[in-house]
Amino acid sequence: MRDAIHFRLGTEDRILRDVDPTMTVLEYLRGPERMCGTKEGCAEGDCGACTVVLVGADGRHDAVNACVLFVPALDGRQLLTVEHLAGPDGALHPVQQAMVDRHGSQCGFCTPGFVMSLYALRTEAKPDRAAVNEALAGNLCRCTGYRPIVDAAMDVCTGQDAPMPVPLPPTVGTLALSYGDKRSFSPRTADELAGILLDYPDATIVAGGTDVGLWVTKQHKKLPVTVSLDAVADLRGVEETADTIRIGAGATYQDALPLLEEHFPDFGAMIRRIGSRQIRNRGTIGGNIANASPIGDSPPALLALDASLVLRRGDVRRTVRLDAFFTGYRQTVLTPGEFIERIDVPLLSAGEVFRCYKVSKRFDQDISAVCAAFRLRIEDGIVRDIRIGYGGMAATPLRPRAVEDALAGRPWNEATIRMAQAVMDSAMAPLSDMRASALYRRTVARNLLLKCFLETKEEAVVTRLAPV
Ligand SMILES: Cc1cc2nc3c(=O)[nH]c(=O)nc-3n(C[C@H](O)[C@H](O)[C@H](O)COP(=O)(O)OP(=O)(O)OC[C@H]3O[C@@H](n4cnc5c(N)ncnc54)[C@H](O)[C@@H]3O)c2cc1C
Ligand code: FES
Ligand code: FES
Repeated sequence: MRDAIHFRLGTEDRILRDVDPTMTVLEYLRGPERMCGTKEGCAEGDCGACTVVLVGADGRHDAVNACVLFVPALDGRQLLTVEHLAGPDGALHPVQQAMVDRHGSQCGFCTPGFVMSLYALRTEAKPDRAAVNEALAGNLCRCTGYRPIVDAAMDVCTGQDAPMPVPLPPTVGTLALSYGDKRSFSPRTADELAGILLDYPDATIVAGGTDVGLWVTKQHKKLPVTVSLDAVADLRGVEETADTIRIGAGATYQDALPLLEEHFPDFGAMIRRIGSRQIRNRGTIGGNIANASPIGDSPPALLALDASLVLRRGDVRRTVRLDAFFTGYRQTVLTPGEFIERIDVPLLSAGEVFRCYKVSKRFDQDISAVCAAFRLRIEDGIVRDIRIGYGGMAATPLRPRAVEDALAGRPWNEATIRMAQAVMDSAMAPLSDMRASALYRRTVARNLLLKCFLETKEEAVVTRLAPV
């Protein structure tokens, strides 16, 4: 096992030993490195002022929030900050020059974050305006207004900066850090991960850290033992079989997006609204499920799609359907030492349609008040099969079976929807909180079922005319 983090800061190799494994990259940059170009705004992944770029061995440039990234995530990677962009003679980088030319900065506090998001975006295919807006949705600016910044992006993101794979410091073997009474492990394989979790069953698993990071920065929790999924290569895969999409628990939203979007366009659209690009470059669907928040966005869609989880403890695996995974408010069937290895999402069969919706106060970068997802099969105008998932309507993500039962076997028409809406009131008991009142949530939940009907009733007619 190695006892030091090896990474590259700009062009210089760094070895970090005796470092707090829950120190954030932002604290590290602004503290020991005295690199203050990267700003701290919110310290919770919301404002983008701390955006830096992580480069992997494959050359991928990911914009990430340094404020919720623990330093072990740097291992084997290159870290680029705004300080690394200017040329040796101090010449501005083209991204910086475009921001100057388009008057994209006033007070300048947000500017390093925008510049780093644009720097990462330049390594992708030429984005259109919508893609630029999406890439910048996690960067907030108080004074300039976004039009000049988006104009700068359109000038400079021409799809010509294809990243070259960079030779990074070799990192062989599991990283094991010890700092005071804290320990941290970054295993390389799922087998090693399983073994470490048997030895430390109460360890905190850190996948993307976009939830766990806030436990440290906002709740000031001490995490005595952390186990990172960052280097576990065999948990990062996303693959399609004949009837299933298999998502490794270490795969990020951004990794899973192409296949999910191809098969379930609505789910893809929802994922594009989870947090920001910086959050989706780190956050995982596995973490979203294990976190067991009643307002996590992916569980309702996955409930409707009848997803199942492969759970593993040591060498023992079990498969649990997602509708049996949540046992109470932030409670799951996971036992100490057990982890989610994989998420299996069945593909739609012929004739099935899928819809999902997220309702939040802001379109981007906001947790939902209510989420709803529906997978249904209508034959001859009759509901032959329906599965529903709701978020924000109970202490856990919920599959309201009473509503499914009320719809099954009935004509797919407005009268049926009105009847099922009445059933909803007894099937779901939402809370009032700062995001929404219980009455608002009930109203939205009813309306989302109606919306699904209105969007799919034509498809129902088509199905009726088609031979079955
Ligand atoms: C600014 C911001 C915006 C956000 N916006 C949204 C949003 O729009 N919608 C939304 O749903 N969420 C949102 N989130 C929450 C968060 O990004 C998601 O829940 C994300 O999916 C968590 O994944 P992660 O990999 O970062 O999990 P982590 O933070 O690494 O872990 C979360 C929990 O899951 C456990 N865990 C992780 N992986 C496993 C595993 N394989 N097996 C067992 N346990 C595991 C961890 O121990 C921890 O308890 C947001 C967060 C931030 C900071
Ligand atoms: S400081 Fe606001 S996102 Fe990091
Ligand atoms: S320029 Fe002031 S916050 Fe953006």
